[in-house]
Amino acid sequence: MPYSDQYFANLYDLIACLIRAVDLVNPKISIHHQQVAYMAFNLANAMQLPMDQKRTLVLAALLHDIGSLSLDDKLGFVEEEPLTMNNHAFIGARLFGSSPFMKDVAEVIKFHHIPWNNGEGKSYRGEDVPLLSHILHLSDRIAIRVNNDENVISQIQPIKEYIKSARDTVFPPELVDTFFGICDEEALWLELVFRPTIFTVQNDISLQSINLTLDETVDFTKILSQIIDFRSPFTATHSAGVAAVALKLAELSGFSESECKMMSIAGNLHDIGKLAIPREILEKTDALEPAEYDIIKSHTFYTYHLLEPISKFEAIAQWAAYHHEKLNGHGYPFHIKADNLSLGSRIMAVADIFTAITEDRPYRKGMPKENAEAVLGHMVENESISQPIVSLLVDNYATIAGLRGESEERAAVDYSKILSVNCNDPK
Ligand SMILES: [Fe+2]
Ligand SMILES: [Fe+2]
Ligand SMILES: [Fe+2]
Repeated sequence: MPYSDQYFANLYDLIACLIRAVDLVNPKISIHHQQVAYMAFNLANAMQLPMDQKRTLVLAALLHDIGSLSLDDKLGFVEEEPLTMNNHAFIGARLFGSSPFMKDVAEVIKFHHIPWNNGEGKSYRGEDVPLLSHILHLSDRIAIRVNNDENVISQIQPIKEYIKSARDTVFPPELVDTFFGICDEEALWLELVFRPTIFTVQNDISLQSINLTLDETVDFTKILSQIIDFRSPFTATHSAGVAAVALKLAELSGFSESECKMMSIAGNLHDIGKLAIPREILEKTDALEPAEYDIIKSHTFYTYHLLEPISKFEAIAQWAAYHHEKLNGHGYPFHIKADNLSLGSRIMAVADIFTAITEDRPYRKGMPKENAEAVLGHMVENESISQPIVSLLVDNYATIAGLRGESEERAAVDYSKILSVNCNDPK
């Protein structure tokens, strides 16, 4: 992991943002992640693992079931573990494995449902299974047995009995022994249910000390854009298209190199608030009912509130979250008018509209040039979007349309590569 004074974002800030984002999709997954992280942290402490391993384990635990957001299932929670449960683990590993500083974390996520199987679980189809994956597995299986709505102290005994019965078959014996060394302390379980959050363990694993350069931040947010977009084949490549268009428009508008990278980040994250929108609405091909449109209108509100707390993201949060605001004040949800819409926000609005109308969707073709220019021209006339930015786009139409197409094609390849994973093919 990189330690550098030349940093842009803090890993803790980004992970906290991701945890809040998962909470918007499904609070149960978010609580589950944090409970597993808390249990894994306590096992790692009892084993006296070094700090960097503890950190890798906690990060893996906090993210371990994120692959299931790209699948239409809730497999992360079932008590039995069919072989297919590994699919979401392998998808999660592929998502995070693309970032060099998340490689170790991805390896741990990959094997979090591999049983010990009397020692055979040291490897899976020719690959070594890290000990940390087995700790994550044990922590996960403990966490799913806790009923958060009942007194947790009376649940300790049945959980102990299950873990004991699975010693050597499901879990490595040393890990089971470690668990038995800590499991009689009631406070451990009370904490697990009461406040198992990342915020209680972050100091112990020095998460605040990991900083990312601007380039690493761009890479990390690309993973986030995949988590956002891969929930539905309808949107699977959209953020990649918006990011490419916004970057080019920023370059043409004279943004500095760093500002252009910040624009890529904003493009990657502009729809992060869509995680709060039910999949059925994202995938509706008919006109939305008024009540459904009201739900859609909330997404940029959430984008703002997810990004705003991140240090150094002030401008990025505005560029990303104001993409449905209009110069005439008739946008949503903040009704910001021209005076307060920065050039970056105006660029993002044009990039989003251009991308949305020209990209192919499974249910319709993208618009050809003439129609797209007519739509954008009409929106300039009624003072919705910026005339100079639309002119820049029209003057460079072929280049920008080409960049959008290439970026979405690359994203489509990533989409099928990441989701084509199955339990028989972990590589
Ligand atoms: Fe899980
Ligand atoms: Fe899982
Ligand atoms: Fe968008």
